[in-house]
Amino acid sequence: MTQIIVINFGSQVAHLINRRVRELGVHSDLVPFNISIEKIKKLNPKGIILSGGPTSVYDKNSPRIAKKILELNIPILGICYGLQLIGKHYGKVFPGKLKEYGKKQISIRKNGVLLKNLKKKQQVWMSHGDLVKTLPKDFEILAKTDTCPIAAMENSARKIYGLQFHPEVVHTPKGMQILKNFVFDICKAKKDWSIGNLAAKLIDGIKNEVGDNAVIMGTSGGVDSSVAATLIHEAIGKKLHCVFIDHGLIRKGEAKGVMKRYKKNLKFENLYFVDSSKIFLKRLKGIVNPEEKRKIIGHTFIEIFEKKERKLKRKYPNIKFLGQGTIYPDRIESAQPSKTASKIKSHHNVTLPEKMKLKVLEPLKELYKDEVRELGEKLNLPKEIIYRHPFPGPGLAIRILGEITQERIEILKDADAIFMEELMKANYYGKVWQALAALFPVKTVGVKGDARTYEYVISLRAVTSKDAMTADWARLPNTLLEKISSRILNEVDGVNRVVYDISQKPPATIEYE
Ligand code: XMP
Repeated sequence: MTQIIVINFGSQVAHLINRRVRELGVHSDLVPFNISIEKIKKLNPKGIILSGGPTSVYDKNSPRIAKKILELNIPILGICYGLQLIGKHYGKVFPGKLKEYGKKQISIRKNGVLLKNLKKKQQVWMSHGDLVKTLPKDFEILAKTDTCPIAAMENSARKIYGLQFHPEVVHTPKGMQILKNFVFDICKAKKDWSIGNLAAKLIDGIKNEVGDNAVIMGTSGGVDSSVAATLIHEAIGKKLHCVFIDHGLIRKGEAKGVMKRYKKNLKFENLYFVDSSKIFLKRLKGIVNPEEKRKIIGHTFIEIFEKKERKLKRKYPNIKFLGQGTIYPDRIESAQPSKTASKIKSHHNVTLPEKMKLKVLEPLKELYKDEVRELGEKLNLPKEIIYRHPFPGPGLAIRILGEITQERIEILKDADAIFMEELMKANYYGKVWQALAALFPVKTVGVKGDARTYEYVISLRAVTSKDAMTADWARLPNTLLEKISSRILNEVDGVNRVVYDISQKPPATIEYE
């Protein structure tokens, strides 16, 4: 049962706070800002954290919370926007003249319980425009900065606390200590969340839920679907039917590699390989618009999966469940608190069940990616599955800019394979979040031997990131880039130029389309 709830006023920071509480070993959940009092009472949390958010409490449409939440007699910690909401309820918030952003130093006036075990001067991370200037009635100032008179405050009798800075980010070195003080000393939460004990619990849950029925699942070789399939397999053995659809736009050698890992390492008995590359390629002929490519691939994928499901059901009528690798951020409401409806990733596999009359089985739905990886380790999955880079559903289709042809697919697969091989050899694969090669559909002039060439450009992209929301280009060593470029130019026919992408996200994205 959840012990701490994080009320979401702006998804990214809220997710981070939620993850930090779980890192402390306490089960916490993210809930929307418009959660009802009844729902909170039902959840019966030991503490409530009001997250930061991108809006100003002055904006007409900014998300609010009911005053009643502050009167529930449950300890509350407001962070940034959360503090301003408390300030607005009990006092006054002013639009700040200076927008404070970045590292600041706080001076602690009083530690209280919230800032217990912290020295008087602390580095913190600020990111705000508005300020709580007037101390609300019955509150006390705990800390300030030279520009922010109330960097931390408390009403210890009512157990309501506020921080203007962000304890959840690494730039606040003692942030975890502050969260720990709140969660354990103020809320009296107990440690109850560990990935170690989770596997057995999840496997038991699947056994109970599925009973004598069977499960069909689309597996791609990626970490989420592989960990989910492994859990289901541990629970029901050969009543799991895994379908791997090859749309022809996966990496070189991937189809064989994934099948081998699933069969040999994970010992899946019922594994079906569906080679559909021809039909995908036919339908993608002449298509250059990225969204259109995505749509065609998504629809074709569903069509082929359904066909396979119908066929399997004739033989195994007890297939009643659809296994999915959905993880927590995929299903928790969107980044924009103003959109009250849950936004589900428009990834094709999430929309599968609506058309098929199957019950959905999502064993990873409570977990974050790093927790899924930890679980994968506990389940002894091979490292090459657990630490694989994310790979988009539409695959190489969104890395071949413009029209997709067999020739372009082959060129890109070969160039990409060299890039991956050299990254692994140099021990850089694990140091980057994601790496990829893309093919630019323009030809440039070059020279090979004595002859003039007119061939494609390959762009290499490697990025560092925490969650793919923002990303920076990876500073790969020049010698490594030189080797990769020289191998591609020598070994891949049809390419006479290699470039390295040095764009950050934003404004660029990780993928090209
Ligand atoms: P962008 O390109 O938006 O990508 O910076 C962020 C992350 O999402 C992945 N991505 C996709 N994954 N279907 C997927 O399953 C898609 O259509 C898709 N587009 C982007 C991308 O690889 C990166 O990890």
